[in-house]
Amino acid sequence: MLIVHTLADLRAALSGSHKPAFVATMGNLHQGHLDLVQQARALGDMTVASIFVNRLQFAPHEDFDSYPRTLSEDAAQLKATGCQVLFAPAEAELYPQAQTFKVLPDPALADILEGHFRPGFFTGVCTVVMKLFQAVFAGKAAGVALFGMKDYQQQLVIRHMVRQFALPIEIVTAATRRADDGLALSSRNGYLSAEHRIEAVALSRALQQLALQTRQNGAEALPALEAQALQALNARGWQSDYLTVRRRTDLLAPEGALADQALVALGAARLGKTRLIDNLEF
Ligand code: PAF
Repeated sequence: MLIVHTLADLRAALSGSHKPAFVATMGNLHQGHLDLVQQARALGDMTVASIFVNRLQFAPHEDFDSYPRTLSEDAAQLKATGCQVLFAPAEAELYPQAQTFKVLPDPALADILEGHFRPGFFTGVCTVVMKLFQAVFAGKAAGVALFGMKDYQQQLVIRHMVRQFALPIEIVTAATRRADDGLALSSRNGYLSAEHRIEAVALSRALQQLALQTRQNGAEALPALEAQALQALNARGWQSDYLTVRRRTDLLAPEGALADQALVALGAARLGKTRLIDNLEF
């Protein structure tokens, strides 16, 4: 595996590729990321990953400074999974000046849920992903980029961005990798105390319960069911931002008969200082 740190070296490394398959990460990798890399191998003619902790998507009070940077362990895992090129730029390489031009996603999709609780988050994500796409795919007629289902809204926002800018990139969303107890793998799980790690699975269980009750009771019952789910989780010691059921296509609240609607239950809640998100399509 070639490790490159500059845009020029990345472009040189990819010069022979007609269809790169790309996995963008912030490092501190877990099996969920490696699943994406594994899948990427079959989808392009060169497998590329990036590791870059993107300051633009962190609010000032969030964990940008303490976000784990584990480059050598990450590189070893990527190599063992068959990644061919790792792009690990320094901040000055991707942001040589303050990034004043930004990609502003549609507020209807990006200012709700995660975007409501983390204002500016998706502008930061879209801006860096657009830069990374430029770095990996510029001059290529085709490419594939893989994102995890755990960041449900993120993969949807990126899909819309790619469509609206007519980028010749296929977006593939891969299933969430879970621990044996059902907790969605996340780089932030490492922040959990032993006690909170045991409790953490309650978020995905709450979403399962909410999905079941939604199918049983219909759209009219949703506001009450969502409020109950949130209160029940908070009663266990969580501070919940949202537990909600939305349409998969646009993340708006479903209306009318639910039988034919493709839905997703989404949740975000804090356990101690650790904020976890999860979702369940149903
Ligand atoms: O999901 C992530 O790790 C990040 O949001 C991404 C897509 C790498 C952009 O920084």
